[in-house]
Amino acid sequence: MQTRIGEVTLAHPFGLAPMAGMTDSAFRRLVKRQAGCGLVVTEMVSSEGLVRGIDRTLEFAEYTEEERPVSIQVFGGDLAKMAASAQILESLGADIVDVNMGCPVPKIAKHHAGCSLMRDPRHAAAIVGAMVRAVKIPVTVKMRSGWNENEINAPELARRVEDVGASGVTVHGRTAKQSYAGRSDWDLISTVARSVEIPVFGSGDCVEPAHLLNRVDNSGAKGVLVGRGALRNPWIFSQALDLVAGNTLREVRLEERGRFLLDYLDLLLGEGVDEVEGFRHTLPSASTTAVARGRDRWVINKLRALSSWYTKGFENGSRLRQDINAAESLADLRRIIQSFFFASIGPRAAA
Ligand SMILES: Cc1cc2nc3c(=O)[nH]c(=O)nc-3n(C[C@H](O)[C@H](O)[C@H](O)COP(=O)(O)O)c2cc1C
Repeated sequence: MQTRIGEVTLAHPFGLAPMAGMTDSAFRRLVKRQAGCGLVVTEMVSSEGLVRGIDRTLEFAEYTEEERPVSIQVFGGDLAKMAASAQILESLGADIVDVNMGCPVPKIAKHHAGCSLMRDPRHAAAIVGAMVRAVKIPVTVKMRSGWNENEINAPELARRVEDVGASGVTVHGRTAKQSYAGRSDWDLISTVARSVEIPVFGSGDCVEPAHLLNRVDNSGAKGVLVGRGALRNPWIFSQALDLVAGNTLREVRLEERGRFLLDYLDLLLGEGVDEVEGFRHTLPSASTTAVARGRDRWVINKLRALSSWYTKGFENGSRLRQDINAAESLADLRRIIQSFFFASIGPRAAA
């Protein structure tokens, strides 16, 4: 079930949706290590930060080879900066650059970026056109159904961005006003799919492996991007593949779920290593300790953020969530994960 975006071939029509704060490189790698995920999209990256070369922004655009094909999502409302950002992302080796036209957060919308671009389709298309002219890699757009129930214009915007050379669009079938309330409108996603020739991906409420298949089979969309369902169950893609192959769905064992969290923690820690080593060479050892402490706090916060979704999928998940939220150190975190997921099979298994 291959699909294509421009010249980029996706081995599977299922991808990991961009999620700010969640789909960091460590999480994306772990998802890719299960089968079935044909595309990962980074967290959104600021075009302002990219053109100014801000380190923190560039970190959001980092990825590893095992994640390919990688789509890097950028947000912004300024045509020249968005075109320059596309060039920067191409030079960083992105396979695809995706434009955020879905973010409803006022902080983004007031800069005429995110979903507020949908209110000015002409300007939105001009931005996409400038980006397409600036790079060779495919430029795609991720949009919502519209700004509010009176301004549902995803089909029109999809046609406009197709006309200026976009290679694909993803539609999350809710308005900005809805945020995450109600349900994603897959009838509208089908309408968009019928309105353009470029591939349309649908997004919203695919939380069971069967939903992924059903949407690809029945909506006219060429693929689906899965968000929250993958935070709860990162195996959702490989389970969808099981169904495609006509096999029964493989249950994920408790130990595998625990292993995922431990691996996530280790990969996040690995990302902080360079930073700590760099400081070790330039600053006195007391500062190195402070940096390491800051890194530990960052890792703990990342684990807390993931666990608020991840623990919803199984028995006693709320207890685990509370324990992780109360953890004060990485040692605490490891102990909590160990005792929740591996208690029945002994401590050596989690090492
Ligand atoms: C925590 C969170 C962060 C998100 N961040 C982004 C983002 O940065 N860019 C974007 O285009 N969509 C973002 N989304 C929207 C998702 O990509 C997706 O379209 C939406 O959640 C609907 O799909 P789902 O029901 O599978 O979660 C975010 C969603 C969540 C839950």
